[in-house]
Amino acid sequence: TPAPIRTDVLIVGAGPTGLTLSAILARDGIDAITITRYPTTAHSPRAHITNQRTMEVFRDLGCEDAVIAAATPNEYMRNNVWATSFAGQEIARLETWGTGTARSGDYEVASPSAMCNISQHILEPVIAEAARGFGADLRFSTELVSARETPDGVEATVRNRETGEESIILARYIVGADGGRSTVAEEFGFTFTGESGLGAALNIWLDADLTKYCDYRPGTLYWMAQPGNDYWVGSGTWISVKPFTDWVLLCMYDPADGEPDTSEEALIALAQSTIGDPSVEVTIKQVSKWQINHVIADEYRKGRAFLAGDAAHRHPPANGLGTNTSIQDAYNLGWKLSAVLRGDADEALLETYSQERQPVGKRVVDRAMKSVVDMGPISQALGFAPGQSAEEGWASLNGLFDDPARRRELIAAVELQNYQFNAHGMELGQQYASDGIVPADGEPADAAGSADTAADDADSAEHADPTAASAGTIDVDLDFVPSTRPGAPLPHAWVDHDRRRLSTLDLVGTGGWTLITGHDDAGWVEAAKAVSGELGLPVRTAQVSMGGDYNDVLHRWAEISDVTGSGALLVRPDRIIAWNCPARPADPTAALRNAVATATGRG
Ligand code: FDA
Repeated sequence: TPAPIRTDVLIVGAGPTGLTLSAILARDGIDAITITRYPTTAHSPRAHITNQRTMEVFRDLGCEDAVIAAATPNEYMRNNVWATSFAGQEIARLETWGTGTARSGDYEVASPSAMCNISQHILEPVIAEAARGFGADLRFSTELVSARETPDGVEATVRNRETGEESIILARYIVGADGGRSTVAEEFGFTFTGESGLGAALNIWLDADLTKYCDYRPGTLYWMAQPGNDYWVGSGTWISVKPFTDWVLLCMYDPADGEPDTSEEALIALAQSTIGDPSVEVTIKQVSKWQINHVIADEYRKGRAFLAGDAAHRHPPANGLGTNTSIQDAYNLGWKLSAVLRGDADEALLETYSQERQPVGKRVVDRAMKSVVDMGPISQALGFAPGQSAEEGWASLNGLFDDPARRRELIAAVELQNYQFNAHGMELGQQYASDGIVPADGEPADAAGSADTAADDADSAEHADPTAASAGTIDVDLDFVPSTRPGAPLPHAWVDHDRRRLSTLDLVGTGGWTLITGHDDAGWVEAAKAVSGELGLPVRTAQVSMGGDYNDVLHRWAEISDVTGSGALLVRPDRIIAWNCPARPADPTAALRNAVATATGRG
């Protein structure tokens, strides 16, 4: 047997989660090995909706432009169409993913990055290239066979699937980014809550030129609802891979009725029935089956083992949060592993990963499941019922638009879909409460609330509290409210610097700590220098204010931040606000030292 290979972090899995983590650790100069059992990255489309928070992660990793270049742009995400077939009757339409007139401003003001549609098999090579650019060690066709914790690390047995050769990897930490059937979860005895097998789906990847049916209503999802088929989401959902020739047709089925016929003829017939135009040629590329699960790991960490991505949370694709949540797990865990391995943080910091990400995962799996159930009212509004014949269904559908009460019912059912397709609060509004976040004075350490705190700083009193302004109208799932409260992601505002337009997000991240100061920054720069020197942990400073070094010319920062005066925000490498100091304390160095200690697990 070959000599054991030693590394600091063994990442099991090279899907969106493993690749992102791999890129972060490589950028931070951490010794890590990433293994995946397959010879390549994903070989077919799976998840595709990529939200603003995830694009911000790519922005931090320097690959946002490469993702945009490979993706289908935002304007092609606009319409969600419900119809009996592409050629048939359109039943309803909803403007989605923040691209519609009602929501586009909310999305634009919240982030420097736009959502895009990029299928997993196109996205993964882009992240892999970014990871390799940082020097990541990615090993394909290498499978984790077993793993266990040892007194000073983990010992993993891996097998090269091409040669059959087994070897031992000794690592200080292991991360299970190995998807819904995680070997790491099994080997380390992680426990889960929820249910599996709540539904079954076929993903049929195919070519069909539907341009003439889509270019006047471009979108990502086309939902076909045909009478005589009431099973959950209808007769098939067409997911645009490349507009409008490359598609995934997703069909739900009930395994109790037997497995579907996946012969080429049957799949072509299925596709053609929802195209409704026999002249459109269909070429089947691949078919796969997957299950609907509603499952969450109770803890994301057990000793030296961590779960991230689908290994930790499994849920339906509704809300498009699969890869997004996974990549954001990696963004949370990555810098913490780097900081502990470099000696910049105490091991205790690693506990905050589960404290912060598990509640987010729980919220995501519950929302995704509810969104699936909330599609039921559309079927009801169409008058579709279980066991109904196609004739009965058509009769019901044909009467729909003549009845004002039924029209109203349809409108309400479609409006409800905003919780799936324009759920900006769900997508961006994740706030953390953990041992690594310094609670705001007098406030309980609770991540759920969205109310901002009034700052104890005369200068900040003039600045509007965006939450208070519209309190009572905020829906935490639909609306994202930027906040500078501890545990919140740093809000985005455009600022000018050296004749360049930057986002406040560009002043933080890239693996480092930042102290954002306001107009009166006396004492803070010195404090940051002193603390950086003492702890060997660089804390850079950036003054954001009207007329400041980073010039808040649009006074957006003044509107959304409560530290424009003599206060400061300590921002972690993952752009989360660890500490909000609303006004300069008597000893800024001591206060900053304490805050950094808490944020690095030394509090
Ligand atoms: P992912 O499953 O992508 O990757 C797991 C990695 O672990 C792979 O690299 C694999 O090789 C590796 N691995 C597993 N076991 C291993 C072992 N023992 N040793 C070594 N390597 C191992 N989501 C969504 O939001 N919208 C959607 O439309 C869809 N559609 C969809 C279709 C299909 C067919 C599937 C399978 C999944 C989806 N999903 C989805 C879910 C989405 O794909 C999922 O959320 C992300 O891929 C999760 O990314 P991860 O990196 O966590 O796991």
